[in-house]
Amino acid sequence: MNPVRTLAAAWLARSFRPFEFTDEADPAPPFAGARNLGLYVHVPFCRSLCGFCPYCRVRYDEALCARYLDALEGEIEAVGASAGPGRRRATSLYFGGGTPALAAPRLGRVVAALERRFEIPDGIGVELHPDDAVPATLRTLRDAGATRLSIGVQSFRPRLLASLGRRPVPAPALAAALRSVPFDTVSMDFIFALPGQTAADAVADVDAAFAAGANHVAFYPFIDFSFARGGITATGDRAKRALLDAIARRCAEHGCERTSIWTFARNGARYSSMTRENYLGFGCSAATLLERQFKVNTFSVEAYCARIAEGRIPTALTLRFTPRRRMLYWLFWAFYGLTVDARDFESFFGVPLRRAFGAELRLAQRLGWIRRDGPLYRLTDRGAFRFHQMERHYTLAYIDRMWGLLRNVPFPKSMRI
Ligand SMILES: C[S@@+](CC[C@H](N)C(=O)[O-])C[C@H]1O[C@@H](n2cnc3c(N)ncnc32)[C@H](O)[C@@H]1O
Ligand code: SF4
Repeated sequence: MNPVRTLAAAWLARSFRPFEFTDEADPAPPFAGARNLGLYVHVPFCRSLCGFCPYCRVRYDEALCARYLDALEGEIEAVGASAGPGRRRATSLYFGGGTPALAAPRLGRVVAALERRFEIPDGIGVELHPDDAVPATLRTLRDAGATRLSIGVQSFRPRLLASLGRRPVPAPALAAALRSVPFDTVSMDFIFALPGQTAADAVADVDAAFAAGANHVAFYPFIDFSFARGGITATGDRAKRALLDAIARRCAEHGCERTSIWTFARNGARYSSMTRENYLGFGCSAATLLERQFKVNTFSVEAYCARIAEGRIPTALTLRFTPRRRMLYWLFWAFYGLTVDARDFESFFGVPLRRAFGAELRLAQRLGWIRRDGPLYRLTDRGAFRFHQMERHYTLAYIDRMWGLLRNVPFPKSMRI
């Protein structure tokens, strides 16, 4: 690990102790009093597996998928019931993957299982592969309650798609399908900073997304996970920054607001599955974040189904937070959404933000990474890029290691990072 970043992390956390994840899980995640509670459901099936993709995914098989969805409904009911009678209010529901659209005919049943235990007043988001963006599947998703789509286009440039091992995306057919079955948010995912990608390529992708009917775009820089490089070499910071600046400028010309480090939206469109104070995750690999803990389910579909059949929650690893680390985690996701509101921090932790992180915030202001406006701290463009560098560092130092282990061991005893 880079020693400067290690020291900075220890200073921020006021601790040199490593993160200790263990198999000592609660019988069910204690979410009864959690405010601003998001829901996430993982559906790991894909028609084919992309070499660059780090997520928990397996090749689609109809019988396995049906068994998995039965187990998923079991987990939802067991966790939901553990908080006692009545329905808890959820601030969001997102289906991610894998490719949840492959389970479209059963998504309505999963939503019904969730609605028995949760009120879900703010719409439902679903990820899909461009191959699934056809009118019949879109109608099935809409009938299941989906109001937001996230389509993994990655690029409209055939040359860049080929480098990712993907076929060209037929933009006119995609646009026609999206016109025929409208959704509140149509988000398109892109991966940028691919070898040989020019600013003209990136700008053309922005234009093509809005022409095809997107009102929200996410541009993620390629991250080179140790177990999922797909033969691609990561681009250096300077080139990456130039591409991101070109993307941000073009999105602004399309009338977009920057809504997070990587997302740009038009007309108030929203798609954000992660920036919650608390969330419950269902399905393999799904993470849960609560006031005092972070936990992650097993990555193995078979082990997941077997645990549910035994009447147990499929948690693989749990991290118990120190208060300081929980605050840092909160700040990380708040800054991911670009703006931190000191009032939200204080109402969540009962401690003024300036008392907990006054010196750090003043330093970040002096470095030009954040701007303060009363209780609001907003990342500048320079700060947003610094955030990305830090995010990449943590992704490779923590998530890469955790996912790398969980891909091979369904229920590890412990893990120290
Ligand atoms: C679960 S996938 C998307 C859904 C769908 N299965 C698809 O591929 O179209 C979520 C998104 O993560 C992004 N992604 C995947 N691997 C990545 C990597 N190595 N670096 C950066 N972004 C990545 C892609 O933009 C992808 O659309
Ligand atoms: S990028 Fe999408 S389609 Fe490809 S393996 Fe990952 S989740 Fe599946």
